[in-house]
Amino acid sequence: MRKVHLLLIAVLFSSAMAYGQQAVITLHGDESKYSINKNIYGHFAEHLGHCIYDGIYIGDTNKLIPNTEGVRNDVIAALKKLKVPVIRWPGGCFADTYHWKDGVGPKKDRPAMVNKWWGGVTEDNSFGTHDFLNMCERVGADPYLTCNVGSGTVQDVSQWIEYVNFAGKSPMSDWRRANGRDKPWQVKYFGVGNEAWGCGGSMTPEYYANEYRKYATFMTDYTNGGLYRIASGANADDYHWTEVLMRDIPHDMLEGIALHYYSIIDWGGKGPAVNFTREQYFTILKNALRMEELVTRHSTVMDKYDPEKKVGLVVDEWGGWYDVEPGTNPAFLFQQNTMRDAMIAGVTLNIFNNHCDRVRMANLAQMVNVLQAVILTDKEKIILTPTYHVMEMYNVHQGAEQIPVTVSNINYVQGKDTLPAISASASKDKNGVTHLSLVNIDPDKTNMVVVRFSGTVYRKVSGRILASSSVQDHNSFDDPDKVKPVSFAGAELRDNVLQVKLPPASVVVLALN
Ligand code: AHR
Repeated sequence: MRKVHLLLIAVLFSSAMAYGQQAVITLHGDESKYSINKNIYGHFAEHLGHCIYDGIYIGDTNKLIPNTEGVRNDVIAALKKLKVPVIRWPGGCFADTYHWKDGVGPKKDRPAMVNKWWGGVTEDNSFGTHDFLNMCERVGADPYLTCNVGSGTVQDVSQWIEYVNFAGKSPMSDWRRANGRDKPWQVKYFGVGNEAWGCGGSMTPEYYANEYRKYATFMTDYTNGGLYRIASGANADDYHWTEVLMRDIPHDMLEGIALHYYSIIDWGGKGPAVNFTREQYFTILKNALRMEELVTRHSTVMDKYDPEKKVGLVVDEWGGWYDVEPGTNPAFLFQQNTMRDAMIAGVTLNIFNNHCDRVRMANLAQMVNVLQAVILTDKEKIILTPTYHVMEMYNVHQGAEQIPVTVSNINYVQGKDTLPAISASASKDKNGVTHLSLVNIDPDKTNMVVVRFSGTVYRKVSGRILASSSVQDHNSFDDPDKVKPVSFAGAELRDNVLQVKLPPASVVVLALN
């Protein structure tokens, strides 16, 4: 049997020669230890530009766009199909200026405020706590509320939790009932501020750790053990921030620590979302792949204080960040979404899947019309971006048993620089089907991948692919289906060895039985 395998690999190798080198991937099905938390496939919606207003919420008097209580039905349907597990709201930087009490009760009585971080526009508070939590129920997603630590109070936070979660009679739960909601929503996920090192209050980690302890003390669990408090985490490679929080916050008051990391060329010149150069493509992918190092090193710090891995790493902001589309408000962060973004999504989700022992949640920034969005809207029109399609293809990994993979990689070469061309992750779902997600980031080369399986025998393979003739390709309101997944015929399974032919800049998800 072993001889047959060796012979087959030799045959595959010789056919692969026609395409240059090949990557060899091994799935260690006999070494599964962790499941992939479905919340790794989470999203983030901030009061920023047209994410909430026009993107999600169009007001309850809009007759032109079908909606339920002002939330677009087309957006809800697309999010349901995506199987969005969790949505973070209301920010981002906005969260530390947000006073939740201004966003409940009759809309005509709600005070307005200035959205100081995002263009100084007037926020009328018409989309508030009920609107968000009811929307999550419709989508089937868990809500994740980011609390105001920067400019709020402990009392506000403690009362917000009482308002949304307390089943008995109390001033806050009575107010909720008076505002039309009897049953509590049972919200589990609460962020204790956002980017406390920056827009959330410019704090030191030591000061924030103390603040966190104070807030967490008054965050009562009304959910019978479900409360999940997430500390405002590090900016990219600030390992000291993670270290101080892990050291100074008692672990019985800490369920998760956040991490924010964006794939950006340079804050001074982020480059366009479309019509980027080959160098810009390479740099963005290089920066996206850096997530591997960040997650590994933050996890190492966490392992030192929490070897049993009780505290989760929550990457609650990630994605590609470019210059805004010409002619749009620079503070609204509206950008197109190309096959380059599909590459970012594919490799990043593979990294999260492979680190699911520590990464328990991640939230793509942001859900609609902002940064690496899965949905773009223009009045009554809606498009699903290449990033949407990757997240939809990958949703088979949600809650599945992770299968460790090892990759003997090949290079994607740009001038004198190289990156690993192939990215992979795998899992086995509750029906026993194994899914393997593969990305070939090389924009020019078809790459061959040989996949071996240790501990499992497969007989059937099928799959889908997302690819297009150029990495610049994207969906537009005139051509909404230019980029979409189709069934994939480039995988061949013989004698338990799989050979896959991955076109340039492609994402493939295979199902193996
Ligand atoms: O996602 C946009 C902004 O990026 C968020 O508001 C903030 O948390 C981060 O700096």
